[in-house]
Amino acid sequence: MTSMKVASTLDELRESRRSCASPFGLVPTMGALHAGHVALVRRARAECASVGASLFVNPAQFGSNEDLSNYPRTFQRDLELLGATGANVVYTPRAEEVYPPGFQTFVTVDEVSRPLEGASRPGHFRGVATIVAKLFLVFSPDRAYFGQKDAQQVAVIRRMVRDLGFPLTVVVVPTVRERDGLALSSRNAYLSPAERTAAPVLFRALSAAAEAFDRGERSGDWLRATMKSVLSREPLAEPVYVSAADPETLGELGEVAGDVLLSMAVRFGSTRLIDNFLFERGRWETGIREG
Ligand code: PAJ
Repeated sequence: MTSMKVASTLDELRESRRSCASPFGLVPTMGALHAGHVALVRRARAECASVGASLFVNPAQFGSNEDLSNYPRTFQRDLELLGATGANVVYTPRAEEVYPPGFQTFVTVDEVSRPLEGASRPGHFRGVATIVAKLFLVFSPDRAYFGQKDAQQVAVIRRMVRDLGFPLTVVVVPTVRERDGLALSSRNAYLSPAERTAAPVLFRALSAAAEAFDRGERSGDWLRATMKSVLSREPLAEPVYVSAADPETLGELGEVAGDVLLSMAVRFGSTRLIDNFLFERGRWETGIREG
């Protein structure tokens, strides 16, 4: 096991970062770590000479009606897991340091932030882009690791990296799933037993549309209808959106000519789950079942 430095201030982080070997890989997280986060750290470990992670529940990306105050916090366990997975440095800032009094400088990625998650969560991606830009500035990573689970977050960050010219490579890691297909998420802990039993319907709906695509179906409407019809058979599932979009711009597709991102958000009671499958370079990225 490497000895991991825990930096709770910017000064401590800069100091630890200086002694890290290159290439440096960064894994931003909000803690409550699970096997999905661990997959990102492992991938960074495999590809980089040193690895940094951040544990910060970022208030700027939560809406006023969202779960900021009861977002799961498992700080000690997170540190142990990061140490055991081989992180060299972990940044655990206080909100007052990230957002000093009078804070008013945000990064906004316009169009890509608007549909899908952005439509139900106004301001969410402004909060994400701002914290990720700040983390890129303080860590100056050579590679930054994000999960395919949050496909729109990936599109927003890629756009920001291109537009602001951050000198780094964005690496996207496949979604880690339970045995029944449910994508791992810190929010799965909020599901009641009945909701947990119903939740793999997202995976089944995505699988049904991917199968239709593989049989030659290229109508966006048909792919969306296929997903909706599977979801409608699960009484506990309330769809928020169902999408078959261009993976880069996230514009809805009428006819799929090349790549496609199938994605959805579904409510189970007060818990909102998201999931996606990506067809890219002639193959499906559907994630890895670990559970
Ligand atoms: P968080 O939800 O903690 O996720 C941290 C990273 O883990 C993200 O890149 C996310 O896509 C990835 N991840 C989550 N579940 C995954 C799964 N089942 N399989 C693979 N990867 C998974 O995403 C955020 O935090 C924040 O928005 C952040 C980028 C840290 C900015 O605050």
